[in-house]
Amino acid sequence: MSADAAMSADAAARPPVLVARRLPEGALERIAARCDMTLHDSQDVMPRDALLAAVAGKLGAITFFTDRVDDEFLDAAGPQLKVVANFAVGFDNIDVDACTRRGVLAANTPDVLTETTADTAFALLMAAARRVAEGDRFIRAREPWIWGPLMMLGRDVHHATLGIVGFGRIGQALARRGLGFGMRIIYHDMYRPKPEVEAALNAEYRDLDDLLAEADFVSLHTNLTPQTRHLINAERLATMKPTAVLVNTSRGPVIDEAALARALHDGQIFAAGLDVFEREPEVHPDLLTCDNAVLIPHLGSATVQTRLDMANLAVDNLFAALDGRRPPTLLNPEVWERGVPVP
Ligand code: DGY
Repeated sequence: MSADAAMSADAAARPPVLVARRLPEGALERIAARCDMTLHDSQDVMPRDALLAAVAGKLGAITFFTDRVDDEFLDAAGPQLKVVANFAVGFDNIDVDACTRRGVLAANTPDVLTETTADTAFALLMAAARRVAEGDRFIRAREPWIWGPLMMLGRDVHHATLGIVGFGRIGQALARRGLGFGMRIIYHDMYRPKPEVEAALNAEYRDLDDLLAEADFVSLHTNLTPQTRHLINAERLATMKPTAVLVNTSRGPVIDEAALARALHDGQIFAAGLDVFEREPEVHPDLLTCDNAVLIPHLGSATVQTRLDMANLAVDNLFAALDGRRPPTLLNPEVWERGVPVP
């Protein structure tokens, strides 16, 4: 056998792969058992230079939404790269067209985080409406206090109107939670779901501007695209009710953060619950001074079980591509359909 043939037999037996951050235990063990794994063994983002150096020559990579997978990354990897398995449902960090042009399979981790992310959105909605974080800060500040009939009044969640922007899996899961609280569901999306989905959730379609004007609670569940960047801007915030609560568990740049901070300070809307920020990990300084903003650090899918499920799905996507099978949650099926050479 020639040296080249021996090398590629070796790559097929234990394919070289990059894992750009530490994953939950079980998932890492699966990869280590089957691949020649280069692991960035840290909770921190892999520095760009290190990422580009480490991906060179790999057949597969597990990436995170904090890693840009673009032409520069794909060039650094080299033409042997078969698959990028992103550990996230959101894939705005991946230039899917660039992957497709180069015949690289790209996959994400939908479904396994749907219910958990909807739980987070509902937790933010409740916390913002009922001033939970503000009350907690107040108690810890050891201010003298006594119960009062006008103390820290919030907004009712039950039987209010819930406006959901982006009515995909997570938006619909939030609607189910809202129904449990007797809420009326209105939604906006570019794509209308099947009539039976609308009927099951008792959900009515609205134009975005109508939804913003009518909803007591607005929760954002859109992908980040050029069309949705700053979808919620100063003009749109001005059309919301002064009693409204805005929740975002999608991507930070969907909201113009400076405009939101102004709207919260001026009492243009009642409150906001934010899991994601425009320039993470930075948070707009004016938001930090809004008592009516509940802020959490991108925890939407952050439960022990869901993070393990996401990791295992990313590994399933990686292994499928390495084995010449179709990855279960593929973003660019056209690459699969035109045939990917088995490594
Ligand atoms: C995602 O999956 O897109 C989240 O933002 C990270 O869990």
